[in-house]
Amino acid sequence: MRGALLHAVGDDKLDIRDDLTPVPVGPGDVRVKIRATGVCHSDLSAISGVLPMPLPVVPGHEGAGVVVEAGDQVTTLQPGDHVIISWTPACGACPDCLAGQPFLCSAHMTNSFVTPRFHYDGGTPAFAMAGCGTWSEEIVVPWQGAIKVDPEVPFEAAALIGCGVTTGVGAVLNTARVRPGSTVAVVGCGGIGLSVIQGARLSGATTILAIDPLESKHAPALKVGATHAVTPGGLADALGTLTGGRGFDHGFEAVGKSAAIMTAWKATRRGGDVIVVGAGAVDDTVPLSAFSLLFEGKNILSSVYGGADVRRDFPLLAGLYKAGRLDLESMISARLRLSELNDAVAALRGGEALRQIVVFD
Ligand SMILES: NC(=O)c1ccc[n+]([C@@H]2O[C@H](COP(=O)([O-])OP(=O)(O)OC[C@H]3O[C@@H](n4cnc5c(N)ncnc54)[C@H](O)[C@@H]3O)[C@@H](O)[C@H]2O)c1
Ligand SMILES: [Zn+2]
Ligand SMILES: [Zn+2]
Repeated sequence: MRGALLHAVGDDKLDIRDDLTPVPVGPGDVRVKIRATGVCHSDLSAISGVLPMPLPVVPGHEGAGVVVEAGDQVTTLQPGDHVIISWTPACGACPDCLAGQPFLCSAHMTNSFVTPRFHYDGGTPAFAMAGCGTWSEEIVVPWQGAIKVDPEVPFEAAALIGCGVTTGVGAVLNTARVRPGSTVAVVGCGGIGLSVIQGARLSGATTILAIDPLESKHAPALKVGATHAVTPGGLADALGTLTGGRGFDHGFEAVGKSAAIMTAWKATRRGGDVIVVGAGAVDDTVPLSAFSLLFEGKNILSSVYGGADVRRDFPLLAGLYKAGRLDLESMISARLRLSELNDAVAALRGGEALRQIVVFD
């Protein structure tokens, strides 16, 4: 089958091959035929080395498709089911799962670093990003990594729910718990930031400021629910006119850089929440003084995978989409084929893309 393979960190181009095979289906696994997969910045971060991955690796973690085979011990899924792939399958038994934080479960994630999920070239093993590897035609994942979804939800929308939408909307609903009437600033307007904006709109925030250095990102941000949009240089003025200089109740960072976390920090009022959604590098340190950390009274919240329980939240988000409350169409800037993935990665690197979706026949 076809799929994209990264051989070395920093490689310019992915090796798009037609001789990949997924590993055999174990008793607790399902094999899924991928029908749509998104191009998230985390994929680019895996390719550039910001997010560590075992090599060679098939990138892709935001996907949806159809179950084609289920292992003997799988009771909740069967061939023909439409599913959304979860990049953090919750084991259900570790302390994080038992504490009600399945988004922190590292059981399968850890396993993905030591257990190859594909073979190519007649038997050479290859890993899968977060154990998923949705930039291929078929994947084998544990049953907890494939969440059944209403078949009326198009695969493209389902794929977006698999990472971007759950991460962004979940950061608002689950992590920050934004209340009606709140004021929200969102730093970064890619697929994640646009999803945060949609979550803020759904939560009844009355002022939603989108912040992105690329002015081309401002119109899509306003389209999905931002009430105002500025470049980072315009933040000081916006703080004055929109909050009387006080700052926003919530400042979301959806970029993955310490500089953007500092923008979110500056945007947030005393006592407000700074929510870190972007996935930054291990050596990118946030320059916050011990004095500020205490006396500005702000709370820094981490939001991994939108603080979601995907078994609850994927269907919830699919329902919001079906009810016309989530505008996923406006988040898709291009639809392409698997063979065009290198162009998609280049476009994401260039900064102009929103979400690009690879569709399969
Ligand atoms: N928390 C999670 O579980 C999770 C899940 C998925 C993705 N992510 C991370 O979220 C981040 C965003 O992902 P994406 O797919 O939306 O990326 P993207 O590349 O599509 O969008 C990033 C946006 O940030 C803007 N930007 C760059 N520098 C900026 C700055 N200094 N200030 C303000 N805006 C700036 C860019 O112009 C771009 O519009 C990435 O770090 C990604 O890895 C986190
Ligand atoms: Zn992602
Ligand atoms: Zn667990």
